[in-house]
Amino acid sequence: MDRIKHLLLENKAWAQSHLDLNPNYFKDMARDQNPEYLWIGCSDSRVPESEITNSRPGEIFVHRNIANLVVHTDTNFLSVLSYAVHSLKVPHVIVCGHYNCGGVRAALAQNSFGLIDNWVRNIKDTYFTHKFEIDGAKSENERVNKLVEFNVMEQVKNLAHTSIIQRAWHERQAPHIHGWVYDLNQGLLKELVTMGPESKLDSVYKYDF
Ligand code: CO
Repeated sequence: MDRIKHLLLENKAWAQSHLDLNPNYFKDMARDQNPEYLWIGCSDSRVPESEITNSRPGEIFVHRNIANLVVHTDTNFLSVLSYAVHSLKVPHVIVCGHYNCGGVRAALAQNSFGLIDNWVRNIKDTYFTHKFEIDGAKSENERVNKLVEFNVMEQVKNLAHTSIIQRAWHERQAPHIHGWVYDLNQGLLKELVTMGPESKLDSVYKYDF
């Protein structure tokens, strides 16, 4: 069957299955959104945030890009963050990486992949900072997976260094920021790090409110 038609047909079946259980499902859903979480994840098709956390529509506000990066000049990302933190007032922000991430693997290689080199360059800086720990790994896969973890922790710090997060910490003592990594082989999430209003920041990154 035509792969595009397949998606449209599956959508009809999905919508009907919800209506069968609750005729008001979409009417209720359409009224408003009040998600508990902002998810910052990788674009990788194997890490669908709602599915791996058994969540329903309305529960997770989402931003995904290659290798789940928090880049301070990315106005697309900053708009999502600002809206989630200051308008939706989410109590939790999750940065979720995954082992065997293609973007992280590309950062460890010397190949040029075109435009994406500039995006992945951010991860090369994280590698450089943790070079000795990463190079100590036995295999290429282990090196990639160590950098995957360091990359998540770096993005959590990048979030904490935004004035968007710091203003929310000042005004409402939230959100908490969680760094997680997803194991494609097991389907399981692992917690790496958490930051919150009580976290200490280097003074150069700290804003006065
Ligand atoms: Co990835």
